[in-house]
Amino acid sequence: MKEAINPPKSSTPKAFFLSLILLSLFYLIFLSLQSKHPNSGHRTITINGLKIRPGYTSYDTYIHHQLHKTTNPKLRKIWTSRDWDRKIRVFTRFFSQLKQEKLLTNSSKALCVGARVGQEVEALKRVGVNDSIGLDLVPYPPIVIKGDFHHQPFDDKTFDFEFSNVFDHALYPDKFVGEIERTLKPGGICVLHVAISRRADKYSANDLYSIEPLKKLFNGSDLVRSRKVDGFGLDTEVAFENLQVLVLDRKWSVHCPILLHCNPVDYGPSSFKFFNSWLHVEGFDDVLIGVASKFVVNP
Ligand SMILES: C[S@@+](CC[C@H](N)C(=O)[O-])C[C@H]1O[C@@H](n2cnc3c(N)ncnc32)[C@H](O)[C@@H]1O
Repeated sequence: MKEAINPPKSSTPKAFFLSLILLSLFYLIFLSLQSKHPNSGHRTITINGLKIRPGYTSYDTYIHHQLHKTTNPKLRKIWTSRDWDRKIRVFTRFFSQLKQEKLLTNSSKALCVGARVGQEVEALKRVGVNDSIGLDLVPYPPIVIKGDFHHQPFDDKTFDFEFSNVFDHALYPDKFVGEIERTLKPGGICVLHVAISRRADKYSANDLYSIEPLKKLFNGSDLVRSRKVDGFGLDTEVAFENLQVLVLDRKWSVHCPILLHCNPVDYGPSSFKFFNSWLHVEGFDDVLIGVASKFVVNP
């Protein structure tokens, strides 16, 4: 007897739908894991003149990329031997100038953000700023401690002075600056070395095209000054002063006024401006004629 041959049932649509469901499930799990990490996901900063580099798929990828160079044993050997004094000499010149400008003093409590093996910390100590420490993903005891500059491991209002030449390594420039402003004392000074005219290295996480984005990010500070420098590929030095806000105690006033204190900055004489609207002000002609008559020389 011939067996009835039933054609095999096609399992393709079933398998397709099953894998589709599984894939969506995996995707949802992936998304929920991503959002649990405070620094994951890629945000785009929309400040003109500041671009976050694409390519970091997660915060871990970014950290891993940063560590790749910093932990390289051969490079660390070079940085702490052949390069050691050469770099300290350059930093010493920068810090001496800042001392002359009174932006840094021997009694300043100072932090160097992204200090790697700490040549800038050593330079601060050599110019007399003894209470100085560095912060980096990789520690270099005793002068550089371990920490992420997006979440500085320090209390609010700890430092009088912070220096950094690694702004371009910040994946979240707003957090980088926010942490500096948080850990600086009121009236504290932050000095950054940044690259404006040329692109920084392949480990950078952002590109800066002018100092305007910095002025926006440092919204709790005053720009003290900026100048051109030659600092290991970084061409601009920008100094900010953390604003001092003081809320007077109730015993001094029923209004509890808020005082905003900024150190006076000398921007030079202000230029004379003439507004067209003045011509429509009643009596303006008389003022003008009165002033002009002083310059009329009678023959
Ligand atoms: C170009 S190196 C600058 C080193 C040092 N300032 C110097 O001039 O010799 C950048 C440094 O930033 C550090 N870095 C990068 N991302 C960081 C982060 N999120 N938190 C702390 N340090 C970080 C790196 O580990 C590296 O040591």
